[in-house]
Amino acid sequence: MDIFQMLKKDHHTAKDVLKKLETTGPRAAKSREKLFSQLKEDLEAHSHGEEAVFYPALRENAEMVDLINEATEEHAEVENLLEDLEELGPESEEWNSKLSELKKSILHHVKEEEGNIFKKAKEILAKEEIQRLGREFQEAKKQATAG
Ligand SMILES: [Fe+2]
Repeated sequence: MDIFQMLKKDHHTAKDVLKKLETTGPRAAKSREKLFSQLKEDLEAHSHGEEAVFYPALRENAEMVDLINEATEEHAEVENLLEDLEELGPESEEWNSKLSELKKSILHHVKEEEGNIFKKAKEILAKEEIQRLGREFQEAKKQATAG
């Protein structure tokens, strides 16, 4: 898979887990906790992989700098919300509203990435690079989850 396919696959998985999480109530604390830790682990590995492999390859292009900075800030926002949710705990009354904040933030980021960023990246990156970045992204993700 090339880098674009891999990122799309991750986005798809995240949306899927989010959907499942939305159906869990405070009384389903166990499944909520399980799904949440899956989502957190997935997203952290994804963000790490992007920041280690995908973004540096694009940042070299002056036109991309603002988009990449914005995307990196959005990663930090998602990370903060994940930590908030973890602190609240699955039985909290505020959990669902915090989860919708997280969802909003993720959906916005995915839209930006698959829209503006992918469009420009496809103009900038050579075919071989798109393949190589896919492999490197996978490696970076593995390292993130191993640590
Ligand atoms: Fe991202």
